[in-house]
Amino acid sequence: MRNVTTVIRLESASVHREGKAILSDVDLEIKAGERWAILGPNGAGKTTLLDLMSTRLHPTAGSVSILGQSLGLVDVFDLRPLIGVLSARASENIPASETVTDSIITAGWAVSGRYWEDYDDVDLKRCDELLHFMGLTELSSRRIGTLSDGERKKVLLARALFPNPELLLMDEPAAGLDVGARENLLGRLSAVAEDPTAPVQVMITHHVEEIPAGFTHAVLVRDGKILRHGPIDSVITEEYLTEAFDTPLLVSKVFSRFWAFGT
Ligand SMILES: Nc1ncnc2c1ncn2[C@@H]1O[C@H](COP(=O)(O)OP(=O)(O)OP(=O)(O)O)[C@@H](O)[C@H]1O
Ligand SMILES: [Mg+2]
Repeated sequence: MRNVTTVIRLESASVHREGKAILSDVDLEIKAGERWAILGPNGAGKTTLLDLMSTRLHPTAGSVSILGQSLGLVDVFDLRPLIGVLSARASENIPASETVTDSIITAGWAVSGRYWEDYDDVDLKRCDELLHFMGLTELSSRRIGTLSDGERKKVLLARALFPNPELLLMDEPAAGLDVGARENLLGRLSAVAEDPTAPVQVMITHHVEEIPAGFTHAVLVRDGKILRHGPIDSVITEEYLTEAFDTPLLVSKVFSRFWAFGT
C-alpha cells in the first residue's frame, strides 16, 4: 500500500476539447478511506473527471495527482495497475468468447484476452474468492458474451478488484439493470464500501438510489464545474440536487440509502 493520505488531488484542473471547456478549474481532494459519488446531468463532465482520475486523460491546464504522483511527471503505466476501472467503455475490449475466470484474471496484466499469460495458484485462488464473493462461482467457465447484463456487471466488478487496486473507479455500474439485479450489485458494492481495507472508491451515477450504503462523500458536477462537494449528507440535499438538475426534487434517506422524487 502506498503511504498516501491524499489519493486524488485536482488543482485548478481544466479539460478543453475543440475549443470548448469540458471541465473548468476543478479543485478536489479525495483521501484514503473515502468513498465518493459523482452526480450531475448528462454532458456535465463526470466521465471526463473520471478519465483524469484513471490517468486516461491529462488536464489541459492545472494539475492532477493520483496516489501521490503528478500526471505528466509519472509513467502512467506504473500507476494504472493500481487503479481498478469498471465502465462500459473499459469492458469493450474483452472478447465475447473469454471465460468468466479469464476475464477476471487478465486484469492482473491490465490486459483483456488471454493469450500467453501463465496464471499461478495465488491468482487462481484470488479469482475463486472473488467469484464466491460476487456469487459467480457457478458461472466461472461460461463465456462472457453469454451473460446477462447483471451477471456481466458483477464479473466486471470482480475484474476491477482482482489486482487489489488502491483506487476503484466506476462509471454508472448499475445502469440498465432491473431492480433485482441492481439491488444484488449494490449489495456487493456496499460490502466493498463498508470494508475498511477496501480501496478508495469513486462512482458516477445518475440516480441517488444507486449510491451504495457506506459512501461517505459526494460531488455534484454541472456544466464542467463542481457545484458542491463534501460529506455526502451535506451534498445530497433537496436544495443542491434541485440546483444541479434544474428540476424541483424531494430527497429522503431511508436505511442508509437516498431517494429522490420530482415534486
Ligand atoms: N473527445 C471529445 N470531443 C469533444 N467533446 C467531447 C469529447 N469528449 C467529451 N466531450 C463533451 O464533453 C462533455 C462532457 O462529457 P462527459 O462524457 O464527461 O459527460 P458526462 O457527465 O459523463 O455525461 P453522461 O451523463 O451523458 O455520461 C459533453 O458535452 C461531451 O459531448
Ligand atoms: Mg458519462
